[in-house]
Amino acid sequence: MSKVHVMDHPLIKHKISYIRREDLGSKDFREMISEIAMLICYEATRDLKLQDVRIKTPICEMIGKELAGKKLAVIPILRAGLGMVEGMLAMIPAAKVGHIGLYRDPETLKAVEYFCKLPADCEERDVFLVDPMLATGASSVEAVRMLKDKGVKNIRFLCIIAAPEGVKRMQEAHPDVDIYIGALDEKLNDHGYIVPGLGDAGDRVFGTK
Ligand code: URA
Repeated sequence: MSKVHVMDHPLIKHKISYIRREDLGSKDFREMISEIAMLICYEATRDLKLQDVRIKTPICEMIGKELAGKKLAVIPILRAGLGMVEGMLAMIPAAKVGHIGLYRDPETLKAVEYFCKLPADCEERDVFLVDPMLATGASSVEAVRMLKDKGVKNIRFLCIIAAPEGVKRMQEAHPDVDIYIGALDEKLNDHGYIVPGLGDAGDRVFGTK
């Protein structure tokens, strides 16, 4: 079964409470989402491999540590996931960025692909799939399936707020994908929104409401 990491850092808790407020404008919302993504990325990269590197400080030579050169990719699920990309790249600037677009079929309620552009060598990369809200889990489950179909083997999913229903669905569908969650909320409402949540993350990032 996959590991679920719910963030317990005070800065993350503070910033998530901030973005939940309905009177927070898009500019501040965007900035905060980016900062939170950066902090979650910090936790989600804890196990990246290191290698020794000989360096010379102004004082002497020493053996330091550097990332072992594993290739990384950040893949936002459109459109709200775009809000997390800048923060992720602040932590892992060498990562390539792909995009996955899914919409919900109003009749079947299934997630349907409308866009997929991934780094050419994505199957060699460790992928950080990002979407601020893990609600029903339909789109993240489908996005992971798309990545696996392209041969990606190492996938982590990062979100800012999750509902227990979405976490369960992801774990059942993809037990090999670890999940990093800023805050685990109570439930989904009848419209598929997370409660208490923060509303529609895409609208709040892009000011479309
Ligand atoms: N997507 C959102 O943007 N918000 C929710 O609460 C659920 C899904």
